[in-house]
Formats: sequence, C-alpha cells, structure tokens
Amino acid sequence: MTILAIESSCDDTSAAVLVNGEIRSNVVATQQVHEQYGGVVPELASRAHQQHLIPVVEAALQKAGVSKADLDAIAFTQGPGLLGSLLVGGMFAKTLALALNKPLIAVNHMRAHILAHFIEDPKPRFPFLCLTVSGGHTQLVVVRSALDMQIIGQTTDDAAGEAFDKTGKLLGLPYPAGPHLDKLARQGNPTRFPLPVGTMPGYDFSFSGLKTAVLYFLKKETAKNPDFIQENLPDLCASIQHTIIQTLLRQLRRAAHDQGLTQVALAGGVAANSGLRQALQDEAAAQGWEVFIPAFQYCTDNAGMVAITAQFQYKAGDFADQLVSSDPRLKL
Ligand code: KG4
Ligand code: ZN
Repeated sequence: MTILAIESSCDDTSAAVLVNGEIRSNVVATQQVHEQYGGVVPELASRAHQQHLIPVVEAALQKAGVSKADLDAIAFTQGPGLLGSLLVGGMFAKTLALALNKPLIAVNHMRAHILAHFIEDPKPRFPFLCLTVSGGHTQLVVVRSALDMQIIGQTTDDAAGEAFDKTGKLLGLPYPAGPHLDKLARQGNPTRFPLPVGTMPGYDFSFSGLKTAVLYFLKKETAKNPDFIQENLPDLCASIQHTIIQTLLRQLRRAAHDQGLTQVALAGGVAANSGLRQALQDEAAAQGWEVFIPAFQYCTDNAGMVAITAQFQYKAGDFADQLVSSDPRLKL
C-alpha cells in the first residue's frame, strides 16, 4: 500500500510517502516569515503553503522513489488548524485525487499526533494514555484503538506550547520561545522562583495563571532592577519550565492512576522539551510506567503522522469524497 500524505494545518508544509507501513519520506518546509511578528500570521501561512506545497510533494515522491501512478490513496489534514492553511492542503489533495482517480482520506491532526507512535518501534499497545502537548493543543487522551480515542482532559485556556512561547516572550526570547527556554533552563535553578502550578478539577489544564504571575513578577522586579531579567535568565527559564512540567505531570499522574493505565505516551512539539522528557522518565521509574516518545521529526507537525493515520483509515475503509471540507475546529 502506497499513500501520499499532506499536512498544512499551521505553519509547516509537509508531505510524506508511506509504503507498506514504512515512512519512505517525510519532507517539511518550515515557514520563517512568522518569526518577525512573534507568532503565526494566518494569511501569510496560507500564502507560504501555496508556494511550498508543490515542491514539497515532488521532493517527498522523489525521495521515496514513488511516482504518482503508484499511489493507492492521497491523505490530507482536514483539521483542526488554521482554516486558510487547511484549505490549501485540502484543495491540493482533492484536486490530485480527482486528477489521478485515487481514493481520498481525510485525517484528524490530533489523532495523527497520537498515531505518530506507530511509525517506529517501540510502539505502545492499546489501550494507553497519551499526553499531546503542542503550540495549539494540550490534551489527555485514552487511546483504546487507532480509531477509538477519548479526550479526558484538555486545556481551558492556553496550550502548553503557548505557555512556553508567551512566558518566553515576556523574557525577551525570540519566537517560538519554547526551544530557547528549554536550552537556558538547563543551566538554571528550577526552584529559585516559585510560580503557581495550574490546578484544575478532573484532568483539565490551565496555564493563563502562570502567564499572569510571570508578567506581574517581572514588572515588580524590573521596577527595582532594570537588569533583573538579564541577570537571572537561566533561573527564570528553569522556574517557568519546572512549573509547566509540574502542571502537566500532576494531571497525567492522576489520570494514569484513575484509568489504571501504565503505558504513557507523549506527543506534539513540546515533547521535544528536555526537562519534560526527563521528568516523565523519572515519574515512570517511580510509578512503574512504560513511556513512549516518538522521534523528534514525528513530534512536531509532519505529514508522516498523517500517512500512518491514513493507513489505519484505509484498512478500516474510511474514505472521504470530493465534498469533504476543511474544519478548523474538527473534534477528536
Ligand atoms: O506540534 P508543534 O510543532 O506545532 C503545533 O501543532 O503547535 O508544536 C510547536 C510548539 C511551540 O509552541 C514550541 O515552542 C514548542 O512546541 N516547542 C517546545 C520545544 N520545542 C518545541 N517547547 C518547549 N521546549 C522545547 N524544546
Ligand atoms: Zn500539531
């Protein structure tokens, strides 16, 4: 089975080719245009997808050694994401499927982040608990099968990635601040500046209190010493990162315990965070969990995860027709 998959939900244009369960190519063009604005500008993202899409698809096919005639299906990200960005990938996939007379598969981006765990070994076994942490989402999901998933907790305000990016911005770090904050935190003291850990009922998350606390704390301290941030940057980063990790782990621990699940998977771009990875390994050792974290290229937005999800859908006969529309708020 040969599938071409396209991902264009946010600011990464990606195409991947899967042949008999194996990802043969996974090409990603990351858009640089947003950096100067400190966040993704939706209209610019759509235009950049239009520019990148054809070269990215051609590169993915070429790298995989696959021609368009060899394809058994064309998959694309239906949602959730930015409407304009989704439309570019969706229109392209529909047009290609129509022109080549191939089946079309519409993939849910959040399911794809979770099913990225089935690209490479070691793979979790069903059921397992997945914490998806990205720039747009924070979800705790019970994964019963590739087609049966249930959200048991999610953020009520900012996503975990946004918490890194927004607090990092307050520290003057470039966008996206997450990776910069991670790097600086490695040299800092995580307990130097105590910040509020978000505590929500059930398994939900909240990060807006942390953002506000950091804002007021920095205002107060820089009023006394204008160089406060520069003089304390690693400790500030470590303290913020520690607080975000504690907020995530608190709910993860409770959910795993209540659901009786011992396989814990991490997905999404924030899974790259070295502090979170270490904290999860430590927690796993204490709780007797088995932890699964995909390779970095399959954690951030990529079409490989869309291709593997499409393969599950192909086997289940879950195809879309030409009337399928992009859905920025598509539910899991
Ligand atoms: O999954 P992703 O590539 O895109 C979305 O679907 O949002 O995630 C991007 C997010 C950004 O917020 C970025 O700051 C964060 O992941 N991120 C990190 C790290 N690497 C990426 N956050 C903390 N530490 C990192 N090392
Ligand atoms: Zn994503």
